[in-house]
Amino acid sequence: MQINKAKQLFERLLSFTANAEQQMVDALPRFAEAAEHKSLRKAFENHLEETQGQLKRLEQAAENLEGIRLKQLKDVPLAALIEDSDAIIENTAPGPIRDFALIGAARKIEHYEIAAYRTLRSLAKELGYADLRALLKETLEEEQAADEKLKKLSNKKIELAND
Ligand SMILES: [Fe+2]
Repeated sequence: MQINKAKQLFERLLSFTANAEQQMVDALPRFAEAAEHKSLRKAFENHLEETQGQLKRLEQAAENLEGIRLKQLKDVPLAALIEDSDAIIENTAPGPIRDFALIGAARKIEHYEIAAYRTLRSLAKELGYADLRALLKETLEEEQAADEKLKKLSNKKIELAND
């Protein structure tokens, strides 16, 4: 079936994004465990908690919207980004280089999610879902804060070995 309505597109994007958050709920504990720097570990652990809340928000949104339900759709690009992060963990020893690389990989994921939430918010506006738009803003702000936190960690806290 071809998608020709904004509502169908919204349902599809909502489903992909919920799947993305679910994938992150599964992946973030691995990132936290792999991080050596305490602040980075903590950042991943905090974001795991937030991510669980973000997933609930999307599930709640689907329940509250007439004619919208979450479908089982795999967010393939996000799965690839997570694979990338797992490859970093596999190919580095614990320490600052791994932490730095992991921050870079996690920031790619945050930016991907930020783009997804921006699109969802635009569509929500189009569809007149004002409450949902506000709800999605909360998540968007969490993703932006997570990215900012990672940026600061890579700038200040992670000292790369120079030898
Ligand atoms: Fe998220």
